[in-house]
Amino acid sequence: MICEQDGIFHIGTEAYSYLIKINAYGIPEHVHFGAPVKTGDAAALSCRPGLGWGSGVLLNAQDSASCLDTLALEWSGSGRGDYRESPLELEGTSSDFRYSGFRILKGSVAMACGLPQAHGGLETLELTLEQPGAKLSLYYTAYPTALVRRTVLENTGDVPMRLNKLMSFCVDLPGAYHMATFNGGWIAEMRRHDVPVGGSKVVNESLTGASSNRHNPGFLLFEANAAEDAGRVYGFNLIYSGNHYAAAQQSLQGLTRVMQGVNPSNFSTELAPGKIFESPEAVLCFSGEGFGGLSRNMHSFVNGHIIPAYWQNRPRPVLYNSWEGCMFDFNQRRLLDLARRAKSLGCELFVLDDGWFGQRDHDKAGLGDYNVNKKKLPEGLEGLSRRIRDLGMEFGLWFEPESVNPDSDLYRVHPDWALTDSFPDVLGRYQLLLDLTKPEVRDYIVENVSRILDSAHISYVKWDMNRHSIALGEKAHGYMLGLYDVLRRIFGPRPGILLESCSSGGNRFDLGMLCFSPQVWASDDTDPIERLMIQGGLSYLYPQSTIGAHVSAAPHGQTLRATPLSTRGNVAFFGCLGYELDLKHLLPVEIKEIKAQVAFYKQYREVFQYGRFRRTELGWQVSDGSVTLAGVFHGLVHAAPGYEQLRIRGLKKDAVYRVVSLSQAIRVGQFGGLLKHVAPVSIDPNGPLLRIADRHFTLPGGGEELTVSGGALMSGIMLRPLFRGTGYDQNQRTQGDFGSDVYIVERL
Ligand code: GLA
Repeated sequence: MICEQDGIFHIGTEAYSYLIKINAYGIPEHVHFGAPVKTGDAAALSCRPGLGWGSGVLLNAQDSASCLDTLALEWSGSGRGDYRESPLELEGTSSDFRYSGFRILKGSVAMACGLPQAHGGLETLELTLEQPGAKLSLYYTAYPTALVRRTVLENTGDVPMRLNKLMSFCVDLPGAYHMATFNGGWIAEMRRHDVPVGGSKVVNESLTGASSNRHNPGFLLFEANAAEDAGRVYGFNLIYSGNHYAAAQQSLQGLTRVMQGVNPSNFSTELAPGKIFESPEAVLCFSGEGFGGLSRNMHSFVNGHIIPAYWQNRPRPVLYNSWEGCMFDFNQRRLLDLARRAKSLGCELFVLDDGWFGQRDHDKAGLGDYNVNKKKLPEGLEGLSRRIRDLGMEFGLWFEPESVNPDSDLYRVHPDWALTDSFPDVLGRYQLLLDLTKPEVRDYIVENVSRILDSAHISYVKWDMNRHSIALGEKAHGYMLGLYDVLRRIFGPRPGILLESCSSGGNRFDLGMLCFSPQVWASDDTDPIERLMIQGGLSYLYPQSTIGAHVSAAPHGQTLRATPLSTRGNVAFFGCLGYELDLKHLLPVEIKEIKAQVAFYKQYREVFQYGRFRRTELGWQVSDGSVTLAGVFHGLVHAAPGYEQLRIRGLKKDAVYRVVSLSQAIRVGQFGGLLKHVAPVSIDPNGPLLRIADRHFTLPGGGEELTVSGGALMSGIMLRPLFRGTGYDQNQRTQGDFGSDVYIVERL
């Protein structure tokens, strides 16, 4: 619901209220963003500057409360008394926009520039502000669990205007906050980093041309006492995949100014008379129920209003991806052999990754070319995809259409299509980006990718992008508009193709890409212990249905860490499950275990992908109201571990539940010489007998089976003991380093 009453605007849903007041000077003041309140509460919630703070620049010399610097604002200009950071910069001039009108519109308002937008909005408030020669429209679209804001600047004068900065939103929140950002790099995405927001500005930005693995555009502001289940937490994100900027800073008056938008660094664009510039949409979210409540509000917004309509709440296939198993070394025979094995494990989609085209036998050549490598694939993609279909699997294909290797046919013909500057080229992974601001480049990509997609039975695309850009400011923004145009033209007419975007893993995990691709390859790091951090970081802002999560080989390629197959599965379950390893060398015990993993995941797929997510003391839980699945994850073991309690959230205290743990297969090989303690025979720990036994036999793991009340489960039930060096029996959890369990809690 959006309403206006005596200059107060109230945007309200069951999850939040957002109040704006137009003051006596036509300045929109920010009144409230938080728990639902009444429109009539505005006076009590507004700032009360009284006689002011002194030394301020006043809009009205007779009114000491008219100092913009001390008010909570919805927008701010420059040179008019507000000396905090301004969300707008017009070159060489101050700005002083005053309220001129409003409209309340049904649904959301479409943008003209082609940036992706959330869909299914309830209502939109359009506030219009004006100054001589310019009009500023602030849009607020209400969604059940989030508010989406954006800004449009129009040159209403008769001379060109130079715009250097236009944020998607700016707001002054009363109170003191900490800021959580999600930082990292390649194979180390989404590490949560908290800093207090004080008088010095805290900035979260990317300048790589992508939303980046360094600083995800999503961030949180939270009160110091906020915890997982309690406290006030705000979440912000941008529906944009390029250079972004967000800043937070607290004023002397205790107002925290927050803003987010396209990164203004090097940004400058000319607005001719009559022209507009539109900022991307930004998402503002609130919860009074801690980080968990905030995450669930964000998840529900993303699942319901960002993911393309066709894929909304649609189960995602269990896939097999050829990359880590084959890299560039494959031919049709090898792929079909892998596909047969993947099928027998239960996989539903076979994805052929990099290496199927041009001279792409390594990463130094071929990007930009689309001719299928007939040496590797004599029957082409049509033949390969048909055979995979005949095996009963869907077929998916990798592309990296935004890039070009200098060693490619495309580059030899069109060196001018690459993104360059006045300096000699600098390569990233031996490649350049194509200049997507050029229509002929976009046409080339659209035509070629479309042609390939229509030439074979392709139901999934992995869209990769593997280098940082050299484009600055306006050019970098133009690149993003070009990319969105390309994605819209290719996938708009083909909504049934499941698009998984990727950028060296999670270098472009953002709401802009998610408007086109329902899932994103979260990281090239598939080590489950690293994934706890990566997927755990993502979980604050993005739902499980968006997170590509694969089981790969151990020891792991990025960390050399050896982890149990069970843990690799248990972590990947909390996303869109896939397998990415050479299946040829799997042991019989591993084949059996993977089959069981895939069958288990399929049984509870909807709960894992779409269930309500919670971070818990011991790991994660997801729930659809009748089934809760709880993952318990351990790092390094300690000798003589103590008791461990499992606490499940969100149950009915008087209902009765059955708790079962997912059965585990304990490899006998890991016991080495210790086996003599559990087996009646003496076995050489380095001998062939143990090796053979390890291939074929496992010991049963400590299976839990309890019937217990919701009240007991919510207060915490005792788990079976962990291994303590006092022997083996089936009642304990015999796990070494990096062990884990999944518990299935079903209401009886
Ligand atoms: C990137 C991706 C990987 C894989 C390779 C192929 O690194 O993140 O998943 O597709 O490219 O070259």
